[in-house]
Amino acid sequence: MRQVRIVSSWTLEDSWKYAGKDWGISLHRVCSRTGSFPPSLAYYFIERFSEPGDVVFDPFSGKGTAPLEACRSGRIGIGNDLAPEAYVITHAKVRPVMARQVIEWVERNRQFVENYRGCDVPEEVEVFYNKYTLRQLLAVRELLMNDDSDLGIFIKAVILGILHGSSSLSLSVKCSHSFSMAPRYVEKSIHRLGLKKPRRNVLDCLLERTSRLMDGYVPMTRGRAFMRDARWTGLGDESVDMIITSPPYFNMQTYAWDNWLRLWFLGHDYREVSKKLFHTSSIKKFREFIQDALKEMFRVMKWDRPCFLVVGLVKLNGQKINMAEIIAPIAEKIGFSPVRIIMDTIPRENKYLMYLREDQGVSREVILELHKGVAAERDVSIDWKRGLPVEKKVIMA
Ligand SMILES: C[S@@+](CC[C@H](N)C(=O)[O-])C[C@H]1O[C@@H](n2cnc3c(N)ncnc32)[C@H](O)[C@@H]1O
Repeated sequence: MRQVRIVSSWTLEDSWKYAGKDWGISLHRVCSRTGSFPPSLAYYFIERFSEPGDVVFDPFSGKGTAPLEACRSGRIGIGNDLAPEAYVITHAKVRPVMARQVIEWVERNRQFVENYRGCDVPEEVEVFYNKYTLRQLLAVRELLMNDDSDLGIFIKAVILGILHGSSSLSLSVKCSHSFSMAPRYVEKSIHRLGLKKPRRNVLDCLLERTSRLMDGYVPMTRGRAFMRDARWTGLGDESVDMIITSPPYFNMQTYAWDNWLRLWFLGHDYREVSKKLFHTSSIKKFREFIQDALKEMFRVMKWDRPCFLVVGLVKLNGQKINMAEIIAPIAEKIGFSPVRIIMDTIPRENKYLMYLREDQGVSREVILELHKGVAAERDVSIDWKRGLPVEKKVIMA
């Protein structure tokens, strides 16, 4: 294999490490989800390795951080993720609607929601909600179930973001907002700690949350979102200018179970979703999967363009694995040139996963830079303290 340069993220000029912890527009916070990278990291690579108007693709987009940053920077952000809740969040970020449209939707549907008589609810869902709130939630769920318009998907994403958590707009009893907790654990906590299920008006919470998300800057550039297997995205040959993505870290994250309540709201059973998503503890299976995913990335990319893979130094059954070292030779066989490995430290609070055993986990992140041909870096400087740059051009995908 050719020589790959190893550098630290702190030594890069204008590194995202100098951006504040909360850097990024409010829309990034539509819904939290485990295992995501910061908006500043996506912005750094998009700004330095692509031009306005370019197509930036993330085949494992999770909560859509990279596609949103791409749209915000005047690129066309395309996100893909096989998990339904990830697709909804990504879609909402690359095709946001106006707050006025959400207000009108609420006005049109308020009577239906407030007069809704209810229907059967799984016991494990009931655990989380006050009866009044749950009835409204079921009405909103029914209204949105078959609504795949930009507005319908945007409202679904906002509801997913308040479906559980501990803020004043969270619809559930106090619990984690980043992952759906086990119902039995929540039930026990309610008894042990005397927690009260809050009586919330779902539509008022939706309106308040929307206005908070829209208080800052909302990109005018529209992107696209897909819910496909990353090994066959359906994008055209050589149609993408840059890839920035983060594939699954073996079995470090159990995305379907972590989002079981959000999946219920969207009409999915987490067990069925889990069967479709890739997760494994086998290095051999990981190699096979990543080879197919990389072949697809190579096919859709234009020549002389870069691909950034955010992966981890993971501990799997006591064994330390550098995912970049596994991926680089496979990528090279496919035709990519592995150019750089950027070592990055991750804030502990971002990666803390309570269900992992002691001999499992992600200790650091590494970014593997691959080129299809020879990709050039732009000579731009990034001032993290300055306000976000204003878009000059509006591009519709
Ligand atoms: C490390 S996460 C990506 C996180 C993302 N960068 C973010 O900032 O939120 C990996 C993602 O791969 C998705 N995934 C798993 N198997 C997949 C497959 N076969 N095709 C597409 N996406 C898949 C998971 O749902 C998960 O969102």
